[in-house]
Amino acid sequence: MKFNTKVIHSGVHPDPSTGAIMTPIFQTSTYVQEGPGNHKGYEYARTQNPTRQALEDNLAALENGYGAACFGSGLAAMDAVIKLLQNGDEVVATNDLYGGSYRQLVRIFSKMGISSRYVSMENPSELVNHLSPQTKLVWVETPTNPMLNIVDVQAICRIAHEKGLLVCVDNTFASPYLQNPLDLGADLVLHSATKYLGGHSDVVHGAVIAKTQDLYEQLKFIQNASGAVPGPMDCFLILRGIKTLHLRVQRACENAERIAHFLKNHPLVSRVLYPGFTDHPNHTVAKRQMRGFGAMVSFDLKSGGVEEALKILKSTRIFACAESLGGVESLIGNPASMTHASIPREDRLANGLTDSLIRLSVGVEDVEDLLQDLNSALMA
Ligand SMILES: Cc1ncc(COP(=O)(O)O)c(C=O)c1O
Repeated sequence: MKFNTKVIHSGVHPDPSTGAIMTPIFQTSTYVQEGPGNHKGYEYARTQNPTRQALEDNLAALENGYGAACFGSGLAAMDAVIKLLQNGDEVVATNDLYGGSYRQLVRIFSKMGISSRYVSMENPSELVNHLSPQTKLVWVETPTNPMLNIVDVQAICRIAHEKGLLVCVDNTFASPYLQNPLDLGADLVLHSATKYLGGHSDVVHGAVIAKTQDLYEQLKFIQNASGAVPGPMDCFLILRGIKTLHLRVQRACENAERIAHFLKNHPLVSRVLYPGFTDHPNHTVAKRQMRGFGAMVSFDLKSGGVEEALKILKSTRIFACAESLGGVESLIGNPASMTHASIPREDRLANGLTDSLIRLSVGVEDVEDLLQDLNSALMA
């Protein structure tokens, strides 16, 4: 099946007991057995749930993986991936990664003997200089949040695999509609399904898709043993959201392109970060590995003032000032004081993340309304 068919049909089947076309929400904690061990493949709902299974099968198909494991949030999914490692191992990660991912590595896993270092992956050949005998996992986020840098996944995987390392790509910003990291050589793909997969800002959820049976089985073991599973209602909401993933992301990308060009020409704006610009440093990589440039746009004001930036966040009427991204509604945020507040200021500034940077998650509203909203807020 082609992608636009897979979002609707992969992994889902009409319910055999009623013919219901939508996957039922199996809101149960356990399953009746005819006798000990004599069951229908389901024993206890932390271990297996049919609604979750349908979603996992669907996600495995969308990312062209062997299998998927779902979790209660994107960070719970990351927690499961890091638990593939042992005490003494090291993670080498993209330097401008999501603040919560950074916090988990630095404040949780470092206490358990798993260290991490953060490097720019814009020039992949430099990766070898940052690897140590302890490095076991390369953690890639692309496009990065909120700087919208693009990492060449193929080149990173080539270098990492020569050293026998695993590569996990956080594909939250692109969504599987725009990018399939496993096809580019990655071993694992992570999604904060809270974002584009769910798409309606009504659920927190995470998923990891594994390329091989071996990695899939290890993740399923961790999913059951650590227990950070999502509820069936949340799995249903993600499954329903995915049915329109292609339509939503396509429209959001079209809107983002118009907005990026509008901001670039605006007299009050000093820089616009958007991989669709031909002068973006990684534009050619983005063009090669993605099927569109995404719907996230970051920008700075000429005044460079934090107060002015925060005033804009309070002045928009359609863009809502909120954390998160990837929903049908457009959001506006200030990463330094919101999503990335857990990253030390000097580290943020070293990566170009200024105190006044504004990040937009462009939704699927009428683009003329969005342009007018931004212009009014800027002029105010
Ligand atoms: C790129 C990225 N990865 C992971 C996460 C964590 O996901 P969740 O909030 O679902 O735990 C986020 C959340 O914003 C994110 O933006």
